[in-house]
Amino acid sequence: MSGTAPDPVVDNEGVVGDPTIADTTVAAVRRDTLGEGDNILQVRGLEKEFAVTKGLFVKRKVHAVKAVNGVSFDVRRGETFGLVGESGCGKSTTARMICRLLDPTGGKIDFDGTDIAGLDRKALVPFRRDVQMVFQDPYSSLNPRQTIGSIISTPLDIHGIATGEGERKKKVQELMDLVGLNPEHYNRLPHEFSGGQRQRIGIARAIALGPKLLIADEPVSALDVSIQAQILNLLRQLQKDLGLSLLFIAHDLSVVRYMCDRMAVMYAGEIVELATSEELYAKPAHPYTRALLDAVPTPDPDARARRLAERAALPAA
Ligand SMILES: Nc1ncnc2c1ncn2[C@@H]1O[C@H](COP(=O)(O)OP(=O)(O)OP(=O)(O)O)[C@@H](O)[C@H]1O
Ligand SMILES: [Mg+2]
Repeated sequence: MSGTAPDPVVDNEGVVGDPTIADTTVAAVRRDTLGEGDNILQVRGLEKEFAVTKGLFVKRKVHAVKAVNGVSFDVRRGETFGLVGESGCGKSTTARMICRLLDPTGGKIDFDGTDIAGLDRKALVPFRRDVQMVFQDPYSSLNPRQTIGSIISTPLDIHGIATGEGERKKKVQELMDLVGLNPEHYNRLPHEFSGGQRQRIGIARAIALGPKLLIADEPVSALDVSIQAQILNLLRQLQKDLGLSLLFIAHDLSVVRYMCDRMAVMYAGEIVELATSEELYAKPAHPYTRALLDAVPTPDPDARARRLAERAALPAA
């Protein structure tokens, strides 16, 4: 990228095209979503290509899938940033690259002032404490043979924190209490818990090291609707109490709206729109965002008709 930043291009709708980002396919970035925020994470032109190979012993590359294609966004310190899009659009791949569970094919991931996209395993050790992930499926993300105490204390052991048995148990029980689990269930196995409780275990494990950024990849989509709100409220509460920055991934726009300050809409590996949650709902600029919004179910039978009428009255984007 060149040294001097080019001027943003503003159209009369107040939609700003930042040329540095526009290079990397953001179609519409609103005015107040740019600017110099205090960013904990800055992602620029992130790419991931998966090689599709053939052959049992000698692998031949026959094809490549571009799962993420030039994704750029910022997460500000203390905010909840939403990444939303349909299944297969590249949300998890983006999240896994930011955690460095996957190596990016291209682009920059600036975390708290350091570009971590190219760091090797050893150099990544301190970063692993600062960025943690909550996974979509609370059933497969917990080892069924490990007790809850052992699951939650694994990150503490790896990083040499709370090493004595008594100290470790105390710390784990504090974490269990914090996420709404009964600390007396320390020695139980995952199958003894419900889906919602298992997700609480996953959250306790993720916050054990006091991360600065928590990435929640569809944390409630595997749960009953009645349990979803409890887990979302827990995440909001923890974010407030622990001062976390949260990257929240979902395919359901109603969930993201409830959780997020700003959000990006992803489609086929690219970000097609980035705005504050309010703006995005009031005036979606991209046709795909409009289609996503129209698919959100609402308990008010007249709401959809009202929304469509309001939208029809707007000038075309
Ligand atoms: N290891 C892999 N090898 C090859 N292709 C992959 C791999 N992982 C993901 N993909 C492909 O990359 C694309 C993006 O997948 P990804 O899991 O990031 O989507 P997603 O937005 O998280 O979807 P979902 O909402 O279903 O979780 C998909 O087409 C997927 O098939
Ligand atoms: Mg996913």
